[in-house]
Amino acid sequence: MRPLHRVFVTGATGFVGRTVIQALRAEGYVVRCLVRRGSERDLRGVEAIERVEGDVLSPQTLEEGMAGCDAVVHLVGIIREHVPTNTTFYRVHVQGTGNVVAAAASVGVRRYIHMSALGAREGARSRYHQTKWAAEEAVHACSLPWTIVRPSVIYGRGDGFVSLLVWVVRRLPVVPLIVGGRLQPVPVEQVAQGVARALSRPSAVKQTYEVGGPDRVTLGELVDLIGKVLGRRRILKFNVPRVVVRVATRALHRLPYFPLTPDQLLMLEEDNVCDPAPFFSTFGLAPLPLATGLRQLLG
Ligand SMILES: NC(=O)c1ccc[n+]([C@@H]2O[C@H](COP(=O)([O-])OP(=O)(O)OC[C@H]3O[C@@H](n4cnc5c(N)ncnc54)[C@H](OP(=O)(O)O)[C@@H]3O)[C@@H](O)[C@H]2O)c1
Repeated sequence: MRPLHRVFVTGATGFVGRTVIQALRAEGYVVRCLVRRGSERDLRGVEAIERVEGDVLSPQTLEEGMAGCDAVVHLVGIIREHVPTNTTFYRVHVQGTGNVVAAAASVGVRRYIHMSALGAREGARSRYHQTKWAAEEAVHACSLPWTIVRPSVIYGRGDGFVSLLVWVVRRLPVVPLIVGGRLQPVPVEQVAQGVARALSRPSAVKQTYEVGGPDRVTLGELVDLIGKVLGRRRILKFNVPRVVVRVATRALHRLPYFPLTPDQLLMLEEDNVCDPAPFFSTFGLAPLPLATGLRQLLG
């Protein structure tokens, strides 16, 4: 079969997308990025890529943008809804994915990689996970040779979670914590390499890979590790009672700078862990201990 050459990437302007572009280019692919109007500056300085304007909610822009592409990497996802602009989990995750797979099938794409999230499952508590699952079901039903990647928390420069904790540890004398489940943070570079390598692994077709780093940590343990890497002798922590977090989150989550939504709280309350061995072995990667990854991130 003719090798894959040009790869269409949705969500390229995001935290994961920018690293996926680098990983795809390192594997020798020509990368074409879907960019929403107004988001062009997010790819400033990223050279040697093709850019097409469009939106996953606009099927016509997808078909036009994908023409001539051999593969699609679909990364678009949101962690917060924005009701005034009708930016809902259902529209972005479920309708967006339906549009992307339909366009990919209609232009004759030969490989499709789908970014989901660990915890996506039938009957999930959070609407983020419910709609990520519904999107996976749309992928299962399509005719494309698909691969699904389901990461736990991803960390790296520009992430929205570990970087927030680093900020809190650096700035606040006492770190407020939520008592929740365990997480398995994984570096963005490894997720991106796995995504890029999946394109050329026939054994990855119709497979779902759960992805996490080698360490399973609670939020408190993650904060302690960040403190250690930052050279802090002791981090003072305070467990905010669950009822207080719930009430505050429900009341304040619409404020743009409030860091938590009720949906995210549901996710933090449960374990987000997996066996990532099939991911690492299939894509020839070695799990990076969290302390090493944090040291590299925090310099
Ligand atoms: N970060 C994590 O820890 C993590 C963990 C597990 C799974 N994931 C999944 O990984 C994927 C990427 O996450 P991320 O952290 O990179 O998110 P991000 O930084 O928020 O990026 C989201 C991307 O989606 C694009 N997008 C949103 N709505 C769109 C639309 N209607 N049409 C076209 N593009 C649209 C954004 O474009 P604009 O620049 O125009 O806004 C941006 O490029 C998501 O599917 C997420 O669910 C992330």
